[in-house]
Amino acid sequence: MNITMTQWEGFRNLKPRRQEWTEGLHLLLGPNGSGKTNILEALHVMTGWGALRGERVPDLRDWRGSERGTFLTGRFTGEEDLEIHVGIGPRIVMKKGDRAIRASHLRPLVPSLIFLPGDLSMIEGSPSVRRRLLDRLCALLFPVYAQRLHEYGRALRQRNASLKYGKNMTATARVMAPLAEWIWACRLAAADLIGNGLAETGSLLPEGVSVALKRGSLGLEDLHDDFWESLKASEKEEKGSGVCAVGPHRDDLEIRCGERDVARCFSRGYRRRIAVALLLSSGRAVERKMRKKPVLLLDEVTAELDHEGRERLICALLETGWQVFATTAEACTPDWPGMTWNVCNGNVSGS
Ligand SMILES: Nc1ncnc2c1ncn2[C@@H]1O[C@H](COP(=O)(O)OP(=O)(O)OP(=O)(O)O)[C@@H](O)[C@H]1O
Ligand SMILES: [Mg+2]
Repeated sequence: MNITMTQWEGFRNLKPRRQEWTEGLHLLLGPNGSGKTNILEALHVMTGWGALRGERVPDLRDWRGSERGTFLTGRFTGEEDLEIHVGIGPRIVMKKGDRAIRASHLRPLVPSLIFLPGDLSMIEGSPSVRRRLLDRLCALLFPVYAQRLHEYGRALRQRNASLKYGKNMTATARVMAPLAEWIWACRLAAADLIGNGLAETGSLLPEGVSVALKRGSLGLEDLHDDFWESLKASEKEEKGSGVCAVGPHRDDLEIRCGERDVARCFSRGYRRRIAVALLLSSGRAVERKMRKKPVLLLDEVTAELDHEGRERLICALLETGWQVFATTAEACTPDWPGMTWNVCNGNVSGS
């Protein structure tokens, strides 16, 4: 899919604007605090995702006030033509044409994948960064995934509370078990797809890198048995620590190079390249499974890459044929083979 037109009003620091976009690569260039990430966030929201920095919905509204309220419009073409209208008040309300649409239904219609500066630590950072990569892909591939993950999180909190108060634990385990099995099945499929797509990320990736889901469990083949057996095996640990030690909340995406752990055998710059390659690989999975080209939103993605790393990244992006929106605070070398837009004080202008 391609975003061909956007309109925003009253969104963060962005000045009201209607903007046409072409296919291909777009670079948003501007000083710190100019509004580059806010533009990516507007695209992120109009493709069915929420606020970027874990903030509440009302924080998206311009805090200086906006007479007409906060609205976003996005027009998309490609595998399907559609127009999305977003109203942001206490909650986000979305319409496809003139009919209301839920975020979980919108996301697969206009698949977008985002890379945030925090994702640069995908390789050496905590498992939660890698789980986020899996969860975002799963939320696109399996529309009820986000809902089930939310239900699992709620059941997990109940279990931890029951542990604290020494209550009967069987009831919470019964709620968690089917959700855990389902989430694991989705994540196993997503990890496989990401692994298969890595070969297509071009010269960005050093040879021999592979990924596999490491479940937060004993790892038995049957997912049902795995949950119950792992829970039984961790009973003592659970009682000692007061938190549930088994389940998808303990999963990790293991990234290896041969038998070695990539966090140990690659320099920072190379770890950055691998992190971007994992995102591109997720995009390949979207393309293959959903038969739609994703839109990539890349925030400060060239940070810490040398000239050659940037060259390879740009090559890899061009090869995808996807529409890409990337931000940078400094002019990019080598030359950017697409449109460059200057962002200044919430204004966007072509250069
Ligand atoms: N709700 C809001 N209303 C008005 N302004 C806001 C709101 N939220 C954030 N801002 C302002 O928007 C400005 C731009 O933020 P943004 O994160 O997009 O900058 P940026 O161009 O990505 O900068 P950097 O290069 O540092 O990442 C910030 O100065 C921030 O104070
Ligand atoms: Mg920014």
